[in-house]
Amino acid sequence: MSPRRQFLKYSAAFAASSTALSLSAQQFESPPGSAETVARDEHFWQVVRSQFDVQNDIINLEQGYWGKMANPVQQAFFEHTKKVNHAMSWYVRKQYKADFLAARESVADALKVKTHEIMLTRNATESFVNLITQFNDFKAGDEILWADIDYPAYQDMMVWLSDSRNVKGHELSLPASGTDDDYIDVYRKAFERNPRIKLMLLTHVSNQHGLVMPVKRIAQLAREHDIYVICDTAQSWGLLDFTPDELGVDWAIFNLHKWIGSPVGVGALYMREQTLAPVMPFPGEDPGDNDVANRVHLATSDFASFLSVPDALAFHHKIGGKNKEARLRYLWESWTLPLRENPEVEILGAASSDNASGMGGFRLKGKSSPEENQVLQKRLEEDFGIFTVVRNDLSSGSNIRVTPQIFTPVAHMQKLAEAITTIAG
Ligand SMILES: Cc1ncc(COP(=O)(O)O)c(C=O)c1O
Repeated sequence: MSPRRQFLKYSAAFAASSTALSLSAQQFESPPGSAETVARDEHFWQVVRSQFDVQNDIINLEQGYWGKMANPVQQAFFEHTKKVNHAMSWYVRKQYKADFLAARESVADALKVKTHEIMLTRNATESFVNLITQFNDFKAGDEILWADIDYPAYQDMMVWLSDSRNVKGHELSLPASGTDDDYIDVYRKAFERNPRIKLMLLTHVSNQHGLVMPVKRIAQLAREHDIYVICDTAQSWGLLDFTPDELGVDWAIFNLHKWIGSPVGVGALYMREQTLAPVMPFPGEDPGDNDVANRVHLATSDFASFLSVPDALAFHHKIGGKNKEARLRYLWESWTLPLRENPEVEILGAASSDNASGMGGFRLKGKSSPEENQVLQKRLEEDFGIFTVVRNDLSSGSNIRVTPQIFTPVAHMQKLAEAITTIAG
């Protein structure tokens, strides 16, 4: 049987089992046991799958763009949309402020920060632009730093910052794969070589290959060198379970529309209290220095998306942040571990589970051009029914990014490993 027909047969069988589960799944509970045990409980994750409107005609391993809403969250979003569209300004002028505050408080609670330390934004990029354009503590001779694993548009923005504020910029090239110590070493040397660095971008989970950076230790080194750190947690919150305190950073930019599963249009800006002064208030906002809300101006935005934040967090907590993190890392292990043995395949980013997330990256040995990876992506899609995406921004070259979701069965990852093995020959 051709791989395509095999895939269709498998999908049909899986669709049938999902339907059978969906009724009993209305009131599901996370099973007891450690996150590592829960991660391997395939029955539980099938129940989780039944809570999503999953597409069965393709194995979609490109879940890093944004996150699918679970059915209860989607339902809540529809209801909020209806409410807003029904009562319009009557509702928004009279009641929305309190409801928005409740959404903001739910994020503060989930991140274990104070409400005035976190403000909702439309996406991580808005939060990032607020920080870099309102940053006001450069002096002549100051320098800034970013790395090749950072989000490509943010690298471009750091170049813009360097040009427009006349501060020298440094881009670090990090190893294509490595341990925490390997990455820390590159940053340590960069700080020692460039004592004028004032501000840096530090990505928690890279969108190129899912590598988890040792943020806490790098942020500590940066603090010792008096460097302000903007931590990009856009891809990490919900993929990993953490708080800003645990990361040891003062400023972080979040997305809720990736791994927390809110509707599209929700990000957040975190600034620890007493750290706001170097970043000016948003133009025209009250200059008070105690509330990060005055660093942001939301303007007219998707009211219903913000209103759905408590619903998304409730679903996230029901499954459990630690369980999600462990399950997604287990899915990463299930395709990377067999392929590590294959001399024709290169796994990028994490050297082991210690610095891996659920997102991963690979390429065929010696094939690092965008064109070669485009051909590989197409082959996976057309011959094996597996959808992935090519990323082109690492110094070491292009790769295929692989991102399952919490509703991805482990069998899909095994199919990926088989497909890559077949292609690699
Ligand atoms: C690491 C990282 N940073 C920033 C972003 C930008 O997120 P958004 O477009 O939601 O602002 C992304 C999006 O994929 C990302 O992966």
